[in-house]
Amino acid sequence: MSSSDGGLRETLGDVTQLGSTPNSPEAADGGRPDSAESGVDGRVSVHEPDTGVDPVEANVLFADRITIRFGGLTAVDNVSFSIPPKSVVSLIGPNGAGKTTFFNVLTGLYEATEGAVYLDGKDITAVKPHKRAAMGLARTFQNIRLFGLMTAEENVMVAMHSHLKAGVMSTIIRTPGQRREEREARETARELLDYVGIGKTVGELARNLSYGDQRRLEIARAMALKPRVLLLDEPTAGMNPQESSNFNDFVYRVRDEKGISVLLIEHDMSVIMKISERITVLDRGAMIAQGTPDDIRNNQQVIEAYLGKTGTREGKRLPKPGAVAAGPSAQPTTTEQEQA
Ligand SMILES: Nc1ncnc2c1ncn2[C@@H]1O[C@H](COP(=O)(O)OP(=O)(O)OP(=O)(O)O)[C@@H](O)[C@H]1O
Ligand SMILES: [Mg+2]
Repeated sequence: MSSSDGGLRETLGDVTQLGSTPNSPEAADGGRPDSAESGVDGRVSVHEPDTGVDPVEANVLFADRITIRFGGLTAVDNVSFSIPPKSVVSLIGPNGAGKTTFFNVLTGLYEATEGAVYLDGKDITAVKPHKRAAMGLARTFQNIRLFGLMTAEENVMVAMHSHLKAGVMSTIIRTPGQRREEREARETARELLDYVGIGKTVGELARNLSYGDQRRLEIARAMALKPRVLLLDEPTAGMNPQESSNFNDFVYRVRDEKGISVLLIEHDMSVIMKISERITVLDRGAMIAQGTPDDIRNNQQVIEAYLGKTGTREGKRLPKPGAVAAGPSAQPTTTEQEQA
């Protein structure tokens, strides 16, 4: 569990074992060729090999030189990032590094101060979150957001609402067509709950589910949008070790069976190192490394970002509780409305 009190210690423990050989920064991809910059403040910038391939066309999602400032704080600083088709890529970094903020820029929840986001070759920088979701960009949240007083099945069906054809009148009158559509939505919701491994919870209230199952319900709900890309913010927070281990297989199934690309934010290195084809590391808003798990494991700057130069840095915030139980209210938050 990444967000337990011991989470940071576990993370540091894992990083401590990462090794200490200097890294030769190597980008599997990400960033336009012209976005490569020389390092500032001692940070390593990640150079994109000039392959002649347009990253906008080659990737299902491409974020080009994203900067986001909150007043005087630069939360994300000139970060380019790509998600290739049918891939599993990860974003890691110490607490406060800017990971969730970057996610929020990708999904449109935050407007980037600078930079552009492309989905399937289209510039979606000005597209609202709910439209991005309908275009195939689905996400889960670091702090679980479910309709606590709705059943698991209903939570998934709500997400499907934007895909259903029935209008307001037919919803009130309940025409045969509307009833059929609802029946089909219910079937799809059950299939999705089965798919994420919580088929038995179909009639249970979301707020009564374990944290691990709530996380999986969020994933089922995101998948109801039939996404091209699934963005998961700390999906294993609240899961027990067995559930985390099963999660690895699940992510591969999502990629291989559904053809969905997955971007993970995770603190749990045992998950990250096993399943990521490519890992990107943020520290204080800047990308400090990008590469394969082996590259990252051996990257001195990554180790220092977590531990400090002396190997004893204590200044990082403890992980926030990753899983907050769904509240008693069945009212969606603004974010949920935007997501659905
Ligand atoms: N809406 C906001 N307004 C002002 N500052 C913000 C806002 N959102 C995030 N920040 C700041 O931006 C920085 C990055 O935060 P962010 O939540 O993206 O980090 P993170 O890498 O997701 O951390 P964690 O691992 O703890 O989840 C932090 O300093 C945070 O306080
Ligand atoms: Mg976060």
